[in-house]
Amino acid sequence: MYLLSRAIFTFVACSSIAISSISAFTPLSWDQAYVKADMLVGQMSLEQKVNLTTGVGWSNGPCVGNSGRSVNPNFPELCLQDAPLGIRFADLVSSGVAGINAAASFDKAAIRRRGEYMGKEFRAKGINVQLGPGMNMARTAAGGRNWEGFGEDPYLAGIASAETIQGIQSEGVMATAKHIIGNEQETNRNEASSDIDDRTMHEIYLWPFARSVEAGVASVMCSYNKVNGVYACESEYVLNQLLKGELGFKGFVQSDWSATHSTSPSVNGGLDMTMPGDVKFGSGTSYFGSTLVDAVRRGEVTEARVTDMATRIVAAWYKLGQDQNFPPVNFDSFHPDRGQHIDVQDNHKELIREMGAASTVLLRNKNNILPLQPSKLRRLAVIGEDADMNPSDLNSCPDHGCDKGTLAQGWGSGTAEFPYLITPLQGLQDALPDSVTIDASADNDIGKATQTAKGADIAIVFANSDSGEEYITVEGNKGDRNDISLWHNGDSLVEAVANANKNTIVVIHSVGPITMPWINHPNIQAIVWPGLPGQESGNALADVLLGKVNPSGRLPYTIAKNVNDYPASVSKDMNIPYKEGLLIGHRWFDANGIQPLFEFGYGMSYTKFNYDKIAVEIDPTHVGVKVSVMVQNTGNMDGAEVVQAYLGFPEDADEPPKVLRGFEKINLKKGAPAEPVTFRFGPTELSYWDTDKQRWVIPVGQFTVYVGASSRDIRQAANFTIP
Ligand code: BGC
Repeated sequence: MYLLSRAIFTFVACSSIAISSISAFTPLSWDQAYVKADMLVGQMSLEQKVNLTTGVGWSNGPCVGNSGRSVNPNFPELCLQDAPLGIRFADLVSSGVAGINAAASFDKAAIRRRGEYMGKEFRAKGINVQLGPGMNMARTAAGGRNWEGFGEDPYLAGIASAETIQGIQSEGVMATAKHIIGNEQETNRNEASSDIDDRTMHEIYLWPFARSVEAGVASVMCSYNKVNGVYACESEYVLNQLLKGELGFKGFVQSDWSATHSTSPSVNGGLDMTMPGDVKFGSGTSYFGSTLVDAVRRGEVTEARVTDMATRIVAAWYKLGQDQNFPPVNFDSFHPDRGQHIDVQDNHKELIREMGAASTVLLRNKNNILPLQPSKLRRLAVIGEDADMNPSDLNSCPDHGCDKGTLAQGWGSGTAEFPYLITPLQGLQDALPDSVTIDASADNDIGKATQTAKGADIAIVFANSDSGEEYITVEGNKGDRNDISLWHNGDSLVEAVANANKNTIVVIHSVGPITMPWINHPNIQAIVWPGLPGQESGNALADVLLGKVNPSGRLPYTIAKNVNDYPASVSKDMNIPYKEGLLIGHRWFDANGIQPLFEFGYGMSYTKFNYDKIAVEIDPTHVGVKVSVMVQNTGNMDGAEVVQAYLGFPEDADEPPKVLRGFEKINLKKGAPAEPVTFRFGPTELSYWDTDKQRWVIPVGQFTVYVGASSRDIRQAANFTIP
């Protein structure tokens, strides 16, 4: 139903906004932290201050980054460690859902809890600084590291970043917002320049960093690439003007690993810490350290600036309460034999399983083939190498730099070793009763697949698509994907299974969108998209397939019909103009009237939801708007709906047709009365970046609020004007 009414000024009380769980620890305010930091740094010599800012060099300490060794009696060496989804280079840790799945859950409370459990694990291993979350923007579908971040929409990425940071920091661990900025592809990442105009910079790429600063993030990592011609880690514009100036960031900027290219320009541009410290891994030289001391002596850098750098680092440490009872590092990334091997997993696998299920997107479900009904099922075929894994392949490739068996994470520094991995086959075997016979063919041999599919009541075929970071090349893909089709002949496998069995279900583990040349095959009854679910993959999938969990994941990116429909692709040029501007992702498809295969925000449920009674209330005293709708579960299963709110701006603002500005995930019981869902739009949601005035401006004129179940499934709409 599509209803466009004039603004109704009614008040609908009470929303179902999820409340995040209570924090274990409340960080100090920056002001409180600075009072302490000023005192400590005030007692330090120039050399001691510089020492804090300089990593000890790659693999010269237990962590991937180790700062400031042993010259400050009252300040420890800090341990900085990957990854955004769990602890890299350590054992007895959890290896949970990727950032892109956290986004696909559209569940603020769950994203917060994910941050909290990671914070607990990092702290228990003695890690001061977690190198995450990642918040680059999935500008191109094939971008190698898109899966580390939160998808193509800045608003979604902003919320997910802030919730993750607050979760991590509630455990007294510093979070790192990375990578500022325009690190949108791996190809030529160390040389190419992302050329981004002022408005696009503010409204898209800087947006998640702005929300991170508001969330109190302790550290920000500058990226490898150049921005408008200048290396990000020495960009006065990015670091001093945008991040520290406009956003008011009070913590410290650390370089990506070997992303520092100079001494004075970097320091004067706003870089506070160089990582891992050496110019090149193992070079034994540094742009900071004694080189920086010399630069101060020569007058190229002021001592006041060095004091500021050190104070930012020390303040972040105080802010997170790390001056009290912080555990010492008890693992070693490079010499595992030196570690204590402390098990930090607790019961975190439960949340990982929940999030795996909650982030699984149901793309198609014809004739209600799902959930599976074991009582009516005799033979189930499980097909494809992505359905299972040889245990010896579990962590066989460093940083998951290979695609063997089922895919549950991408590759690169953004990974953590699996403590175990429940494969889809295992998950289904454990969940199905003995009365169901499972015929498995866990490889991509077409002949075997056809044979296995033929005799079954239902055939589930698995396929995947992988990507990662550019320092590892997997099957010819140097980080970015060479194309966005399924790997290992997956399309032929799907086609063959569908030809052999009229009840075919396709399951895709992927880092991002793929093309689906088989989409119109009449025998493909269901398509299930678990993305990158981490260690509990098979259990989470079985929960969804068997209906123990009603699917509620939503796509955090657009799946196009054709790869050429996307606004941008990975570029080999050394200057990459972001020509699509504000029209990233679904905004481009809207603005150009292109029909996607599956739109941003899309995902099915086993039940149905009805939307009704949109109401808008303007608060003239504080600039703000409150919009509510009534949502009811009208199907026959309990389930969660992701209610999404998009704004259409007044024409003069020259915004994309629909801009995401709110979402709430609510659990609704079947048959229960409708519940109100409320969105509040303040200056952040209602403004655009005015390039002439150089500030955020709320435009004059009529807004439209669209509320619905996806970016294209709008169920209610209303107009309003800000007085
Ligand atoms: C990555 C960062 C990571 C760092 C430390 C770099 O290659 O870009 O995201 O935190 O390495 O491992």
